Amino acid sequence: MKKNKFLKVAIVMGSQSDYKTMKLAVNILKKLKIKYETKIISAHRTPKRMYEFAITAKKNNIGVIIAGAGGSAHLPGMISAITSIPVLGVPIESKKLKGLDSLLSIVQMPKGIPVGTLAIGEDGAINAALLAASIIANNNSLVKKKLDSWRLSQTKSVRKKPK
Ligand code: RP5
Repeated sequence: MKKNKFLKVAIVMGSQSDYKTMKLAVNILKKLKIKYETKIISAHRTPKRMYEFAITAKKNNIGVIIAGAGGSAHLPGMISAITSIPVLGVPIESKKLKGLDSLLSIVQMPKGIPVGTLAIGEDGAINAALLAASIIANNNSLVKKKLDSWRLSQTKSVRKKPK
């Protein structure tokens, strides 16, 4: 793997329909000037694509993988089974069970293969990107600076009193 300043974040998702949620993660990475790539990878519909992605991720300078999936959401766990790159799972809000199915599928990984699980839906996508930024920032002072100033402006945006 090359130096950490070259590390990218991969944002992968099970379906085009997940992009309206995962786009929020993309927006955060753009703001923080973090290199990223996006892909649609379905663990059950495109298993070969998933394997190829995961097995080549290190060589492709990917430092963190954000994986969004809905329903029986096995994509983050399956990717984590193939690579030791940190995987952050975003449970997509499903129609029938409102994302509880996605959340439980992702969070209940049996011991040995971890997936860092975020909140259901948009909050999860945003926090996944912020957490990915924190991981990258450990060894990248530029990203650390951007992240610190993003957090500071968030703090400043909170009014002291209600209007
Ligand atoms: C999952 O099934 C995807 O992650 C998506 O959240 C869900 C529905 O997919 P589509 O039917 O919209 O393609 O694999």
